Amino acid sequence: MRLDSVKEYERRIKSIIITEDEIKDGLKRAGEYINALYDGNPILLVSVLKGAFVFMADLCREVTVPCEIGFMCVKSYFEGTSSSGEVSVVMDLDRDVKDYHLVVVEDIIDTGRTLKKLLDMLGDRKPLSLNVVTLLDKPDRRLVDLKADLSLFTIPDKFVIGYGLDCAEYYRNLPYIGEYSEI
Ligand code: PRP
Repeated sequence: MRLDSVKEYERRIKSIIITEDEIKDGLKRAGEYINALYDGNPILLVSVLKGAFVFMADLCREVTVPCEIGFMCVKSYFEGTSSSGEVSVVMDLDRDVKDYHLVVVEDIIDTGRTLKKLLDMLGDRKPLSLNVVTLLDKPDRRLVDLKADLSLFTIPDKFVIGYGLDCAEYYRNLPYIGEYSEI
């Protein structure tokens, strides 16, 4: 898909589902959660590119305890609109996680298959602990039994864009979460 017209680009943003102010409130809650949980421990915030890059950038600035930042890039293989659960690591973390409490910072849990694979992979590396903070949760679509330790917003089964989430790589830079529609 190529969107060359601004009018067409804007028309496809059907509605705002989560506003910038609501996201800011959510970030504060997530920051407080991490600060309370990990006071005095070595933390590594791990984010999976690309979707979680905006959430990670804002969330890490709400964290007031010492923490380090790490990125992974995984490729999920899709069957139609769902991930197949086949995940390969395109770019791995640049350090051993054995001495860290890991907090996986995710943008959205949909079927849960990508995160499940990722948690299995990271768990095998024996971190001190493993915790998941997600911005969005779409429980209606879940195919594996998986729940984040902290989920900021539960959303219905709609195609969402913005704040890191894309449609064909567009819309990641929107400052809010919107619903996408071609109609
Ligand atoms: C999205 C999102 C999650 C995953 C959720 O990533 O960032 O990692 O899908 O789907 P699931 O729960 O059904 O497995 P995507 O593969 O679209 O890549 P992106 O982060 O680069 O946009």
